[in-house]
Amino acid sequence: MSFSVDKSRGLYPYIDRLFESAFVFNANQFLLDGGKTRQIKRFLSGLEFDSIVDIGCGPGNWAKIARGQYVGIDTSPSFIKTCIKRYSGDPRKRFIQADAAGITLGQTFDLAMLISVLHHLSDNEASRVCHWVALSTKYFFVLDLYPNPRNPVSRFLYAMDRGNFIREPREQERLLTKDNLFRVIRKEDYYCPNRFHRHTLYLLESRSFHTQACQSADQDHSHVIHVL
Ligand SMILES: C[S@@+](CC[C@H](N)C(=O)[O-])C[C@H]1O[C@@H](n2cnc3c(N)ncnc32)[C@H](O)[C@@H]1O
Repeated sequence: MSFSVDKSRGLYPYIDRLFESAFVFNANQFLLDGGKTRQIKRFLSGLEFDSIVDIGCGPGNWAKIARGQYVGIDTSPSFIKTCIKRYSGDPRKRFIQADAAGITLGQTFDLAMLISVLHHLSDNEASRVCHWVALSTKYFFVLDLYPNPRNPVSRFLYAMDRGNFIREPREQERLLTKDNLFRVIRKEDYYCPNRFHRHTLYLLESRSFHTQACQSADQDHSHVIHVL
């Protein structure tokens, strides 16, 4: 089932710009995504991690769960500006404005997070992200959404979503486990309290972490970034 419409026309580019405001983004999260923080904390409880790379970090809302080094990556200059301002007092938090599908990080992390971002990535982009994440991090946490197909309000909201690649849960899993890069160690889904959408959560373990991340990064032709 497709939830996508042509978003290059009409009001869509304005809506897109509006959502680059941290205030509008957070108001929307508050209204539509109730309970997400609690669900994420519960899902990750018991997992040992210190350093985090947060892919598609938005206005930096998840930086607060990092105990050690944290790197947030986002294509949006306005979100990255917000993050830098918001965490200016914490030298362990760094932010990079980049397309995550076009880079490789020249360092390792305990955990990579992709929260509500998978539906912004084409299969090809998601696959490029998975490849560098598998080499650079031990665990990969992915949360994505799926509309409630029986609910017209839900279908409308997701036709408006800025992401063009909303996938059914089995498609999400197929994409994440392609090329045998990861092993699924936990997965779950839940309906948000408003019943408009379902969130799917995956905790993956890399099969190739520790196998010379940086060396492999140098071999491919993506842009290697050394952050810390
Ligand atoms: C729905 S927001 C989620 C933000 C954050 N993860 C959260 O949960 O609050 C999706 C974010 O992914 C970013 N994004 C989309 N495609 C990206 C890409 N190729 N590389 C980096 N960031 C990307 C967008 O700019 C946006 O900030």
